[in-house]
Amino acid sequence: MKTIDEAKIQALVAQLEAEKNLPDRDMAELIETPLLELTNRLLAEAADRVRRKHYQDEVYVRGLIEFTNYCKNNCYYCGIRAGNACVERYRLTQEDILDCCRTGYELGFRTFVLQGGEDPYYTDERICELVAAIREGYPDCAITLSIGEKPRASYAAYFAAGANRYLLRHETADELHYAKLHPASMSLANRKRCLWDLKELGYQVGAGFMVGSPYQTTANLIEDLRFLQELEPDMIGIGPFIHHEATPFRDMADGSLELSLRMLSILRLCFPYALLPSTTALGTIAPNGRELGLKAGGNVLMPNLSPVRVRQSYQLYANKICTGEEAAECRSCLELRVRAAGYRIVTSRGDVKR
Ligand code: 5AD
Ligand code: FES
Repeated sequence: MKTIDEAKIQALVAQLEAEKNLPDRDMAELIETPLLELTNRLLAEAADRVRRKHYQDEVYVRGLIEFTNYCKNNCYYCGIRAGNACVERYRLTQEDILDCCRTGYELGFRTFVLQGGEDPYYTDERICELVAAIREGYPDCAITLSIGEKPRASYAAYFAAGANRYLLRHETADELHYAKLHPASMSLANRKRCLWDLKELGYQVGAGFMVGSPYQTTANLIEDLRFLQELEPDMIGIGPFIHHEATPFRDMADGSLELSLRMLSILRLCFPYALLPSTTALGTIAPNGRELGLKAGGNVLMPNLSPVRVRQSYQLYANKICTGEEAAECRSCLELRVRAAGYRIVTSRGDVKR
């Protein structure tokens, strides 16, 4: 016999699947309900149905190259913030980066994600030169940049040089919450401006947020969904907040696996077409976190292609996985994990299917 509460959750999930949306009050109930097992199971089942309708059992892999951990910003949550004097800073050279691409290409990657802190050494000219070199060497690959907030003209120059995609999580769509996560030198308005500029310039755009970040409320999460519905990004990256001991948030609680999975499923139901990574942070808070993320609606994995010698220095949060494994080891490890979860890694650019 189902209780009234269980029947309500079942009805809400069905409504979300059918209408790709729920009113705030119902969304809040779905996010907050203590009926953990039932809710996450129903959401994951619905999300998996929708993902299979749009993307079958395909999982896209992106080769992540963390090419600089210098950063001028001081986000309170992030381990490579400028104020952390304990990180050994590094920059990969263009040659290093092209080596990563070569290894990655051989392993079947057709998307390279160049991610880094906001590093003034990497001027627009240097970024464009780098992008152009990759574009020339790998004409069949997508080039994704994830290097933070820049003027519109810079984004335009990277695009002209050959970049196709840009990842910039909005982090939170609520002004007050944003101000609790970032110093006053940063603003949500500028972050949103960047995302709109990127979209207008023709990039495939990825936004996103952390689940369980300090001071986050259910209302904040709903605001994130509403902002995303307005932006309609191609990719949405979410993962649990994980504290880092050398940041102001060292004593803050980590986000939970359960809420992260619940939000991932809700995103799949709201955005059937979206590319949703099952993130490294999810794999860090639980040994099978990424597999569970795929089963909850995720369809992208972003393993690391950076040289092993620098991986320990790109710790945005504590205990990040895969810092000791070579690219090839991660690739075969993922192959097994994805297959065991009931999906299939494909060698393709993995463009969004709108
Ligand atoms: N825990 C989880 N995710 C984090 N990020 C940064 N710091 C942390 C942390 N402590 C995420 C941010 C950023 C992305 C690159 O990593 O959302 O946009
Ligand atoms: Fe990196 Fe398993 S994915 S070791």
